[in-house]
Order: sequence, then C-alpha cells, then structure tokens
Amino acid sequence: MDLKQSTLDKIDKLVPRYPDKRSAALPLCHLVQEDLGYLSNESIEWIAERLELEPINISEIVTFYPMLKTEAQGKYQVRVCRTLSCALAGAYKTCKQFEEAFDCKVGSTSEDGLVSLEYVECHADCGRAPVVMIGEKEYTGVKTDEANELIEKIKSGTVETE
Ligand code: FES
Repeated sequence: MDLKQSTLDKIDKLVPRYPDKRSAALPLCHLVQEDLGYLSNESIEWIAERLELEPINISEIVTFYPMLKTEAQGKYQVRVCRTLSCALAGAYKTCKQFEEAFDCKVGSTSEDGLVSLEYVECHADCGRAPVVMIGEKEYTGVKTDEANELIEKIKSGTVETE
C-alpha cells in the first residue's frame, strides 16, 4: 500500500498513545483515508495488521461511519443536508439539481469522477437552510439559483472547497 511517509510517521506516533490498540482503529482509518482518498480492502487489511486485529474489526468501523468511504470519491464531494429545516427549505429539490447537472444519483459518484453526491444530517446551521457542503466549505441558503451557481463553479473548477 502506498502511504506517504508523513502518514506513516503520524500513524507511528498515534498508535502507542492508545493502550488498547483497537481504540486507534478509527483515527487510523481517518489518516489512511486522508492520504489515499478512500479505504480499499487492502487498506482495511493493512490497518488490521498494524493494530494486530482482524480485518472484520476494521470493516465494522468502516461500514458504521458514513464519513469513511470504501470507494474512490469524486474530485468534489457534495453533501446536501436533508434534516427537517433543510428538507422544508427545499433540500431535496436542491439535491435533484445536482443529480441532474452531473448525471449522478445521490449516494454515488459521477462517471467522469467530478462529483460524489450524498445526503448528510443536520450541520447545526438550520437557520440558513438549505445547507450544502462542498468539500469542507459550507454553503447556506442553497435554493435553485444558488445551486445553479455552484454547479457552474464546480464545472469550471472555480468552486471553493475550504
Ligand atoms: S437541518 Fe440542515 S443544517 Fe440543520
């Protein structure tokens, strides 16, 4: 597996901090995903071996936490909040716009690898619904016009993601 030396160094520092190695599993998953973009079977096996656990122990964690990904993600990760305030403010319609613009069903990645689209739960910014995250950047009040603007920016590669 091709982890950067800096990631390996972080892992080497992190693991001894946990008397119970199993507790290091989640942070390790994050570090590996940060480096490789997602957690392949090979990564899961590697993490298990590094922590002297079984791959199933790591798979359970990976499947439990929605932020851990088992498939390569698009260049832009678009996450639409669908909790009550956002839903009432039109989040489903907003999401549909993204689906149509990138020919990409929610929960998947567009064929050209540009966008991964998913629903998320409340971002604690309900007063400014609907909320959409693109990468690490939060966009609020994303109704029809705002969504179209973001779609154009994604297509032109000018959208801010942090
Ligand atoms: S419901 Fe969407 S931010 Fe709270």
